[in-house]
Amino acid sequence: MRVLITGVTGLVGSHLARHIIGERGHQLFGFKRWRSSTAPLADILDRVELIEGDVTDPSSVEAAVLRSRPHRLYHLAAQSYPSESMLAPNATLVTNVLGTVNVLEAVRRLAPDCRVHLACSSAQYGLVAPEEVPISEERPCRPVNPYGVSKLARATGWTPEVPFEQTLAGVLAHWRERLEREAPAPVAAAGPA
Ligand SMILES: NC(=O)c1ccc[n+]([C@@H]2O[C@H](COP(=O)([O-])OP(=O)(O)OC[C@H]3O[C@@H](n4cnc5c(N)ncnc54)[C@H](O)[C@@H]3O)[C@@H](O)[C@H]2O)c1
Repeated sequence: MRVLITGVTGLVGSHLARHIIGERGHQLFGFKRWRSSTAPLADILDRVELIEGDVTDPSSVEAAVLRSRPHRLYHLAAQSYPSESMLAPNATLVTNVLGTVNVLEAVRRLAPDCRVHLACSSAQYGLVAPEEVPISEERPCRPVNPYGVSKLARATGWTPEVPFEQTLAGVLAHWRERLEREAPAPVAAAGPA
């Protein structure tokens, strides 16, 4: 099976890479930013094919999906620090929300049979009263920082009661497919829109 990990140089990505390599029959690809250190992968660099890019750049995500043709994709790349998200809310939302849209769109168009795992976070639940622990999936989400908001935006709708079409992944897959099917052929036009 071909497996692609985004955020492969991160804390979770590097451990997951080692775990996947330890299992037989998998070919591992890792998506990394050009400036990210490969030190966390030092002992397995000969077993993972690294592809450089940035999740905020759709063309580099598409190139990675085309090259790896994944059966499984673990999307871990993120601005993952809640405190940093207070200083850089815009970058956090762009990376975590639009970056995820870019990953899902590339998979939908180029590897539609691939299964995608999105890393969510307890931060999407935000404020939790002591009597609400342990947190159930039915509990209302009250994120308290842009990081939590970004994780909630990606995960919205992911409860057993909500149809897939109402999730971010579902909206993209369902409505884009329908628009493409029903949209009239584009007409060249000039002038103000
Ligand atoms: N570690 C935790 O305790 C924890 C808890 C809950 C959720 N998560 C989520 O799990 C995932 C992995 O977490 P982590 O602890 O390994 O984070 P990390 O910060 O260690 O790793 C994030 C990775 O994403 C990459 N990345 C960041 N922006 C990118 C971009 N624009 N394009 C491409 N790559 C980019 C970084 O280079 C890094 O390799 C994240 O989505 C995080 O939000 C982590």
